[in-house]
Amino acid sequence: MEETSLLLLISGLTISPSRSQMFVGDSVSLSCEEDDGSAGWTVRRNTTRPQSECGDQWGKAAASSCNIDVVFTRDTGVYWCESREGATSNSINLTVTGGSVILQSPVLPVMEGDDLTLSCQSKPPSSLPAAFYKDGALIRTESTGHMTLHQVSRSDEGLYRCNMSGYGASPSSWISVTCEELTLMSTPISSTQSPDQTFSTFRESPAPFLSSLHLGFTLLLHLLVFPYFISTLLMVSLYQRRQR
Ligand SMILES: *[C@@H]1O[C@H](CO)[C@@H](O)[C@H](O)[C@H]1NC(C)=O
Ligand SMILES: *[C@@H]1O[C@H](CO)[C@@H](O)[C@H](O)[C@H]1NC(C)=O
Ligand SMILES: *[C@@H]1O[C@H](CO)[C@@H](O)[C@H](O)[C@H]1NC(C)=O
Repeated sequence: MEETSLLLLISGLTISPSRSQMFVGDSVSLSCEEDDGSAGWTVRRNTTRPQSECGDQWGKAAASSCNIDVVFTRDTGVYWCESREGATSNSINLTVTGGSVILQSPVLPVMEGDDLTLSCQSKPPSSLPAAFYKDGALIRTESTGHMTLHQVSRSDEGLYRCNMSGYGASPSSWISVTCEELTLMSTPISSTQSPDQTFSTFRESPAPFLSSLHLGFTLLLHLLVFPYFISTLLMVSLYQRRQR
C-alpha cells in the first residue's frame, strides 16, 4: 500500500497492452502518467529513424498519451516521456516482430525475490510447448508455454527469448531485476539525463532520491497517522471515563 501511494506521486511511461514485444498489426497505447497534470508530457521515441515526438510522422497524440493504431517493425525502438522543460521518464524498449512468436515479459524491472513469469505467445494463439532461453542458453522447455522463475535475483537479469515448434523464435527482450527499494526507480522523472541513462544513474546514486521519498513518506505518516492515532486514544479514554 505504501508503495502504491508513492508510485502514484511519481510519473512515468506505461504501455498498453502491457508487454514490450508486439506483432506487426497490433495497436499500442503509450501513456505518460502525470504527477500534477501541468507538466505537458509528450511521448518521444528513438528508432532507426531520428528521434521524434508522437504526432510527428508517427502515432496520434491525445493529451499525454500516444496511440499507434498499427505497428510495424520500424516502430521498434526506445520510448519515453518528456516534459516541456526537458525532464524525462523511465524508458521502455518496444520490439515489433514480423514473425509469429513473441515473449511476454514484464515491462518494468522485476523486484528481487519476486517470481517472474514468462509466456511464449504465437500468432495465431496455440498451446504448444515452448523453449525459453537466457543470454542464448536454453533454460528449459515448458509444455504449457509459460515459465516461472521463483524468487529472482540479480543473476536472473539478462536477455530472454523463446521459441515454439512450427512457429519459430521470438525477439529477445532485456529483463532487469532490481532490489525492492529501487523499484520506485521504475518511474523516475524530473531528471535531465537521457532516458537510457535514467535507470543506471538512479541505480548508482539512489540515496538522494530515496531519502527525499522517505522524508516525504515520513511526513505523510505524521500528517495522516498521528491525528488518527490521537483521536483513537481520545475516544478510548472518553469511553473509559463514561464507563466509570
Ligand atoms: C538514438 O539512437 C541512436 C542509435 O542507437 C543513438 O546513437 C542516439 O544516441 C540515440 N539518441 C537518443 C536521444 O537517445
Ligand atoms: C533496452 O534494451 C537494451 C539492450 O538490450 C538494454 O541495455 C536496456 O537496459 C533496455 N532498457 C530498458 C528500459 O529495459
Ligand atoms: C527451438 O529451436 C531449436 C533450434 O532451432 C529447436 O531445436 C527446438 O526444437 C525448438 N524448441 C521448440 C520447443 O520449438
